[in-house]
Amino acid sequence: MIWWLLVAFCSLSHSELLSTTIGTRNAELRQRFIPPAESAVNSGTKFMFSFLNSHLASSLLPNDTEILTVSVTNPSASSANIVITSPWPGFHQMSFSVASGASQMVTINPPSIQTNYMDPEFESVVIENKTLTLISSQPVFVVTSNTHADLDHMDKYSVIPVCQLGQEYNIVGDESSMASRLKSSNIFTVIATIDNTVVSILDYRTSGPINYTINTGQQVTLATFWYTTNIVISASNPVAVISGAVCGYGYYNQYECSQETVMLYPTNNYGLHVPYYKFLPEDFGEVMVLMQENNTNVFVDGVQVVTGLSVFQYIILQFRTGGYITANNPIYGLAIGSTNANNQSGPFFAHIPAQKNFINSPVTFPVAQADNEKSLSNYARVVTLIGNIGFIQLDSYVPNGLVYTRMGRSEFYFIDIPVQPGVHTVSSLNGGFFSVTVYGFGTITSYAFTPELDLQTSGSC
Ligand SMILES: *[C@@H]1O[C@H](CO)[C@@H](O)[C@H](O)[C@H]1NC(C)=O
Ligand SMILES: *[C@@H]1O[C@H](CO)[C@@H](O)[C@H](O)[C@H]1NC(C)=O
Ligand SMILES: *[C@@H]1O[C@H](CO)[C@@H](O)[C@H](O)[C@H]1NC(C)=O
Ligand SMILES: *[C@@H]1O[C@H](CO)[C@@H](O)[C@H](O)[C@H]1NC(C)=O
Ligand SMILES: *[C@@H]1O[C@H](CO)[C@@H](O)[C@H](O)[C@H]1NC(C)=O
Repeated sequence: MIWWLLVAFCSLSHSELLSTTIGTRNAELRQRFIPPAESAVNSGTKFMFSFLNSHLASSLLPNDTEILTVSVTNPSASSANIVITSPWPGFHQMSFSVASGASQMVTINPPSIQTNYMDPEFESVVIENKTLTLISSQPVFVVTSNTHADLDHMDKYSVIPVCQLGQEYNIVGDESSMASRLKSSNIFTVIATIDNTVVSILDYRTSGPINYTINTGQQVTLATFWYTTNIVISASNPVAVISGAVCGYGYYNQYECSQETVMLYPTNNYGLHVPYYKFLPEDFGEVMVLMQENNTNVFVDGVQVVTGLSVFQYIILQFRTGGYITANNPIYGLAIGSTNANNQSGPFFAHIPAQKNFINSPVTFPVAQADNEKSLSNYARVVTLIGNIGFIQLDSYVPNGLVYTRMGRSEFYFIDIPVQPGVHTVSSLNGGFFSVTVYGFGTITSYAFTPELDLQTSGSC
């Protein structure tokens, strides 16, 4: 049996933290998996992923369709040969090459390759064959985009290479689904990378885990009207997990919906220090925080805001600007984009890199061509420690340290650098560690993705 508890209270001790909300989901067990031995970064040569549905078969939008794209960016010195396959019947194998230093965007057809397309199976788990497998001859960075044909309702996510996938994940979903007029909103899919993988979904309407055995490239998908945050996925082999909402509302504007998507990273990548600041042009910021251990105390700017949280609880923090979120045990921060009072921007999901996920090697990423998308304002957000400000370079531009903004009461500073369509590289001139979040917004639309996080890696990428 599932139950749900929401307790909202205000934190009076801080001017920047507007509210703290605790969510709970019951569950009986949580499996522990030994993390892979070494930690490394980056792009890879094998990726398995899917597009989450963005098409509710609503009578409101009968003729809607979606543009699904995959952008492959090649930071390596040689040209990369790419092959994309899928067992989905309407999909035809794609082969192309991406020159050194270039990015190539391809359109994926048919739109019915989206998981639970048009939402026929909401509220029940389905096994599907909609996985895309991308193999590259060189390490590349892969980002997907799902946009309605009217160039609205979009989100993007970075595809984590198979070598950085894991066996335990916590799902994140939109929390405003109860306000939905539509059939389902939250959706996730779990993709097997190895045959005979047992996927256990813990705590969805049951007192124990429900297991599904799937083969390579198959997936377990659940679309639901209900909350999904903190459902625990565990699997007998590494799996890819994509989580989000078909039609997220963000928290601020309950009446405009837009896809929210993120490819999750395994729980063993959570970290203790999570600096956050709201994104342009939000009126205020929203962060969801999940736990890796029981008895977790969460602090904002050094002040304890919640104590003794269990792995089955999570919190939603609302900030006027930003704050430094820390804990005694590893936590995961997810940013939720929202629309401002002037209808700018929209819902998105974005990992908030913990200090543990920062890297110091160059990050190369694409910004899509303006003629392919509504005219969006695009930014690269760079976060780093105070000692590195003035030493971070985007292409040939080195922002002065004075233009950075402090993130709460922390040693972390960020800058939002406007970026034009094309390929960009962020690098560190002093070997300092940093993170990059790429995001863009227009009228009631937005996207965000985080290229190149430092995640646990097994084998060779
Ligand atoms: C949907 O497409 C059909 C066929 O092209 C058209 O007759 C109908 O008017 C369209 N409906 C809407 C709501 O645009
Ligand atoms: C998926 O593929 C498997 C193996 O080829 C097949 O048995 C199954 O019927 C397919 N499922 C769907 C929903 O197409
Ligand atoms: C589900 O899978 C887990 C992990 O593989 C296993 O421990 C458990 O016994 C399975 N449960 C059932 C009902 O098969
Ligand atoms: C957290 O506590 C619950 C009981 O409240 C226990 O079942 C679970 O195994 C604990 N999880 C961890 C990660 O310690
Ligand atoms: C925002 O959009 C809503 C619905 O489309 C509209 O009613 C409202 O007037 C818009 N607000 C502004 C400030 O443009």
